[in-house]
Amino acid sequence: MSLKERCPIIEFNDLGDERGKLVVVEGNDSIPFDIKRVFYIYGSDPTVVRGQHANRESEFVLINVAGNSKVRITDGKEEFIVELNKPMMGVYIPKMVWKDMYDFSPDSVLLVLASTHYDGKEYIRDYDEYLKEINEK
Ligand code: TYD
Repeated sequence: MSLKERCPIIEFNDLGDERGKLVVVEGNDSIPFDIKRVFYIYGSDPTVVRGQHANRESEFVLINVAGNSKVRITDGKEEFIVELNKPMMGVYIPKMVWKDMYDFSPDSVLLVLASTHYDGKEYIRDYDEYLKEINEK
């Protein structure tokens, strides 16, 4: 499977009507895991690069619920960039995939859904260490 196939874009149901938009995001439904943790990133300067890690255990879905940002996704062999610019779209990032988030608009609110509770030890923050671990697999 290609990296893009492993990291699909997810389109959420928009139940909007004349009163406004309503987007539904459900664990084990449109999100392919049980959601254990939610965090959101905002107020990042457009020059900032965040992420810069892979996770041994966690899966994520990233959604820009306001504004926009980009995420560069790589497995050390393939690479692609997703522009997150619609509240009704997200990108799924499985375990052991490296991601960098950048180009945050001033109004960007990047919502992240995670399959685990936080454990700093499952983060790989050194790219050379990441390449070493995936090549051992
Ligand atoms: P970090 O992983 O560097 O954020 P990003 O990937 O968005 O650049 O996290 C920043 C800090 O917040 C770091 O000290 C770890 C802490 N943190 C938690 O305590 N719990 C969490 O769920 C997350 C995502 C981060």
